[in-house]
Amino acid sequence: MCVTPRSGSDVRSTLGGHRPDAHPPDPLNNLRRELLAPLEGKVLEIGVGTGLTLPHDAAGVELSGIDPDADKLVRAARRRGSHIGPLTFVTGDGNALPFADASFDAVVISLVLCSVPEPRRTLAEVWRVLKPGGELRALEHVRAPNALLAASQRAIAPAWRLIAGGCCLDRDTVHDIVAAGFTVSDHRPHAAGVFVQVVAKKAGLRGQDAINRVLEGQVARTVAEPKEP
Ligand SMILES: C[S@@+](CC[C@H](N)C(=O)[O-])C[C@H]1O[C@@H](n2cnc3c(N)ncnc32)[C@H](O)[C@@H]1O
Repeated sequence: MCVTPRSGSDVRSTLGGHRPDAHPPDPLNNLRRELLAPLEGKVLEIGVGTGLTLPHDAAGVELSGIDPDADKLVRAARRRGSHIGPLTFVTGDGNALPFADASFDAVVISLVLCSVPEPRRTLAEVWRVLKPGGELRALEHVRAPNALLAASQRAIAPAWRLIAGGCCLDRDTVHDIVAAGFTVSDHRPHAAGVFVQVVAKKAGLRGQDAINRVLEGQVARTVAEPKEP
């Protein structure tokens, strides 16, 4: 299910236009469709892979996709689906996103946080590139809430990691999302909680954003203060 990251070149391909999509049957496609509906504005997908989510993007979304695997991005470019808005693919790592702060209305992550080496670092990057009030939409397989199922996941996790390119079966990804500062507004478990869809907002301000906001407030107050006669 997961793929070992490969560093790619800095190749960018920007595409537009419309072409009918032909993607293989995938039981997760319904969840991908639900995850993406309805999104607007500038959207980043981390770990876009071969572009299985592309057919579900709303018309007109301005989509950027990033993945370390350039070969997959070529396949994603071929797939393209019904996407009619601007479409940009960049090779790169979710842990060091090559995008400016607060540049996206939404970030989509589908089956990726299980395999990135440092999910919290990726989530910190998601926070950085999202505009205040922006949304993280995530579909992930996670540690099951049922203790017996979780124990089974834990037992097979080491072997799974070896055969599935570093994929961790039992990460507590929702906990990581909350720990990164996001406010979860929708949480839908599937298949006994082994899969989960999460919508989470960058509701508050943290780090440099919070400092900047305080400084902006001070400047505004200074300007607004009436002068002594
Ligand atoms: C299981 S596939 C999911 C692909 C697609 N998002 C989907 O829903 O089917 C995981 C994807 O994450 C990508 N990936 C792995 N490590 C990554 C990283 N550090 N940063 C960004 N993407 C990564 C892989 O190359 C792969 O395309």
